[in-house]
Parts: sequence; C-alpha cells; structure tokens
Amino acid sequence: MKSSWIAERMQTMPSSGIRKIFELGQQLKNPVNLSIGQPHFDVPEPIKSAAIEAIRNGNNGYTVTSGIAELREKLKKQTCDRLKERDRDLIITSGTSGALTVTILATINPGDEVLVLDPYFVSYPHLISIAGGIPIFVNTYPSFEIQIDQIESKINLKTKAILFASPANPTGSCISKDQLMQLGELARKHQLILISDEIYRHFVYDQPFHSVAEFYPETIVVDGFGKSYGVTGWRLGYVHGPTEIIQEIAKIQQYTFVCAPSISQFGAIAALDYDTSSIVRDYRSKRDRLIDALKDHYELTIPGGAFYLFPKAPQGDAEKFCLQAIKHELLIIPGASFSQQNTHFRVSFAAKDEVLERGIDILIRLASFK
Ligand SMILES: Cc1ncc(COP(=O)(O)O)c(C=O)c1O
Repeated sequence: MKSSWIAERMQTMPSSGIRKIFELGQQLKNPVNLSIGQPHFDVPEPIKSAAIEAIRNGNNGYTVTSGIAELREKLKKQTCDRLKERDRDLIITSGTSGALTVTILATINPGDEVLVLDPYFVSYPHLISIAGGIPIFVNTYPSFEIQIDQIESKINLKTKAILFASPANPTGSCISKDQLMQLGELARKHQLILISDEIYRHFVYDQPFHSVAEFYPETIVVDGFGKSYGVTGWRLGYVHGPTEIIQEIAKIQQYTFVCAPSISQFGAIAALDYDTSSIVRDYRSKRDRLIDALKDHYELTIPGGAFYLFPKAPQGDAEKFCLQAIKHELLIIPGASFSQQNTHFRVSFAAKDEVLERGIDILIRLASFK
C-alpha cells in the first residue's frame, strides 16, 4: 500500500477523544460512566411498538429521499406551527450527524469560513473541513455565553455561515431569546447562513425554548430524535429551512445516505405524539443535584439545557484529570475533544441516580487532585 492512498485530509483528523475514553473504560470492571452523550431511559413503549410493527408490516425497503410522507408532513406541520411560519420545507435524514453532513456539503464551498462557537460539538470542525471550508473559532470561555460584537469581529468577506447549538454540547449553555434575535440581525446584516443545531431542544430547564429561525427564517435548522426519545442508534434526524436549500440538500442525500432508516421513520411517527415532559423534569432534577453537590468544589457554569456539565479541571489540565478519574473508575471526557483548549471536562448526567451519586463522590474526592 502506498502512503498516498490515504487522503491528505486524514492527516489532520484525529480519532475521537470520546472513543479513546470509551476504549480505556472497556478495561474497567465496574466503571461509573458519565461520559456518554445519550439518554439513560428506555425507549417509550408506543415508539418501540411502532418500529416493530413497521418491520412486521414489511416496511423494510428504501423510502423516498426526503422521508415517508406521513412523518414528513406531520413534522413539517408541528415545526411550522411552532415557528409561526407557513413555508418551511423539511427533509428527514440519517441522524442529526447526517443532517449536519448534507447541510454543510450543500452550502459550504472550499475556502469558505464558518464561524464555530468554542466549545463546540466534536464533529463541527471536521465536517466543515471535509467540505473544504475553514472553521473559525469564537472563544466563549469562561461564561459560554455569546457576545455579538466578538462574533462580528471574526466576520470578513470569506465568512459564509455560523454553526452553533443551543442548548449546547458540551456546556449545556442556552442562548437567550434576546441574543438569538441579535444573532439573527447580525446574520441578516452580513447575509450569512445560520446553521442552528437544535438536537437538545426538548431538554431546557429554566426558560422556554426559542429557535433563532423565529427571528431569521432563512436559518437552516438541524434536529433529531435520538436524544429526545432515547433512540440514538436509530439514526434519525431532519433539516428544515427555505425550500431552495432543502431541495439542494435532498440532492446530496440522494447520492450519500439515499434515505433515513425506514423502520426508524415509522417509529418516529409515534414519537411525535409522545410527551417528553416527565423525562425533562427528571433530567432537571439530576442537573440540580449535580450542581448542588459540585458547586463548592469546582469552577462551573449552570447548564440551562442538554445533559452535560462542563467544569474546569482543578489544575487546568483536563486530559491529565480525566486519566486520573479513570484510575478511580470514573469515565468523563476531556474538553479538548470539544474545544481548542484543554482546561475543562464534560460530565454527562444522563445516568441513573445511583450512578450519578457514585460519580459525585469520586468527583468530590478528585477536586483536590494535584
Ligand atoms: C450538538 C449535537 N449535534 C449533533 C449530534 C449528533 O446526533 P445524532 O446522534 O442524531 O447524529 C450530537 C450528538 O451527541 C450533538 O450533541
């Protein structure tokens, strides 16, 4: 094999830091796993039954590219009602990752700059690079709140888009309604694409959820079912936005993923009628318990959403701290997986209460780690 068989883009693509922790964790007998970005609860019964029925009824083949009509129409109606908009188009995708991939491939040219709020979801910089774009990081430490003038200072003629999540992974930070409005104005002023990742939309604890698309309808929103209904393995997401863009996204989907998994699409029809409020209440109380237990031991911000806490490592080196945590059987993720800096670490509170309590005990012991 010649070394040139491997594409040059692979030289700058490290394997995921999250996977590394996962592999180290495999060697532990009884790990306290607070590293996972997926809900701990079982899939609600009506959603399971709908997917099982789909298999039994023979719905096992390809679907149309944009998704089965019943799901697409129902989701489109719910989305338009929520955003008070009539003309939003929508396509069902293979996970939110698939939604991000097709959106970026359909919009970003080689050399385009895309602003990314740091910390960010692991895939953002890599997906932008795959399209030939250049991720430009906007540092939001230590509050993880956005500052519009700081974002504006990074905008130049090459800037094409701003990609962000609210609530965010790994910080749980939520952009306020006021700031979403300002972000929309900024995008309008500079004619930028906003790509808003709303996968944690259901998991908001202190304020009602708002989408930037309410203020800037040109926004391309990516969303998904995995986190809200505990079906991360079903690989189901969607994109909604202006018809002209969704049509181009559909072309990319035709030649890449072809369609989203059919069985998952049938399950998702039932998910749209499922009320997640008791799950969200449970996660709010997990968040409150974690904050209460750790606030005097770590420098941290209170996550308004998602299911993560992103505290500062006691000595400022998160990689070293997380390796120390593994020695105590605790799995958490160093911040460098989500950031240009390595000072913080991610704790997921999507876990059973007894697991969370064991994790809290270990974290309190590790707080004085030198
Ligand atoms: C912010 C964010 N976007 C997208 C994804 C990917 O979601 P999916 O599993 O639906 O591809 C995740 C998963 O952790 C995430 O945290």
